[in-house]
Amino acid sequence: MALEGHKKIETNATLLLTLSFLVVTVGGIVEIAPLFYLENTIEDVDGMRPYAPLELAGREIYIREGCYVCHSQMIRPMRDEVERYGHYSLAAESQYDHPFQWGSKRTGPDLARVGGRYSDGWHVDHFTDPQSVVPESVMPSYAYLSDTVLQPSYIVDLMRTHRLVGVPYTDEMLENARADFIQQATDFGDPGVVARYPGAQQRDFDGQPEVTEMDALIAYMQMLGTLVDFSTFSPEQAVASR
Ligand code: HEC
Repeated sequence: MALEGHKKIETNATLLLTLSFLVVTVGGIVEIAPLFYLENTIEDVDGMRPYAPLELAGREIYIREGCYVCHSQMIRPMRDEVERYGHYSLAAESQYDHPFQWGSKRTGPDLARVGGRYSDGWHVDHFTDPQSVVPESVMPSYAYLSDTVLQPSYIVDLMRTHRLVGVPYTDEMLENARADFIQQATDFGDPGVVARYPGAQQRDFDGQPEVTEMDALIAYMQMLGTLVDFSTFSPEQAVASR
C-alpha cells in the first residue's frame, strides 16, 4: 500500500517536485532559523576576550599567508585529537574570530592550542627556515616577515570593523589601540595592554627592536588556545553561568 502511494509520487514529476520542495523547505527552516539566534547557543566562558591589537594584526598575517590551507584550528572531541592537541575546542574560543579559522586540511598540525608549546626563539627559527628545526617539514619559509616593519596605521579601522560585526571592543580599547600595538612587542613597563586584554603576553617576540610582522604572528601563535583555564573549566558551569 505504502509502495503504491510512493509509485504515484515517483511517476508524477510535478507532484514529486512539489513534495521535495516542501520537505527541503521544512528541513531548511529547522536548520537555518536557529542560527539567527546564535548568541543564545554560544556559552559564555571565563577568560575569553577580544584579540589585543598586535594579536589581531598577527591573525591578519595568518590569513594573508594562507596558513589555514595547511593548518586547522579546531580540536574535535575525539580521544586521539584530545591526547595530541589538548582539550577539545569550545565554540566560545572562536567567538571573536571573523572569519573563523577552523580550516579543513591538516598538512601540518592543528594550531588551536599551539600557544606556549614552543619558545619565541623556536618560532623565529621555524618561520625563517622550517627545515632547520624539523628536517622533514614541507612548510615553506616565511623569513621575510622579519624584514617587514609593521605600522599600526590601520589597526583602529580593523578593530572598528570587528566591532561592527559584534566584537566588544570598547572606546577605550580603540583610543589606546596604536599604543597597545607597539607596547605589547616593545615596552615591558606599561601594564595597559595587559589590563585591557587580560592574559596578553607582552615582550619582544622576535628579538628585534622594531615591531615586525614576525612579532605580530608570534604574538598571535603564543596566545592561541591559552585564554580559557581548563583546570577550572567545566561545561556544566559554563551553561549555568549564562
Ligand atoms: C604547505 C603547508 C604549510 C603551510 C602553508 C604552512 N604550514 Fe605550518 N606546518 C606545516 C607542516 C607540515 C608542519 C609540521 C612540521 C613542522 O613543524 O615544520 C607545520 C608546523 C607548524 C607549526 C608547529 C606546530 C606544532 O604543533 O608543532 C606552526 C606553529 C606552524 N606550522 C605555523 C604556520 C603558520 C603561522 C603558517 C602561515 C604563515 C604556516 N604554518 C603555513 C605545513 C604548512
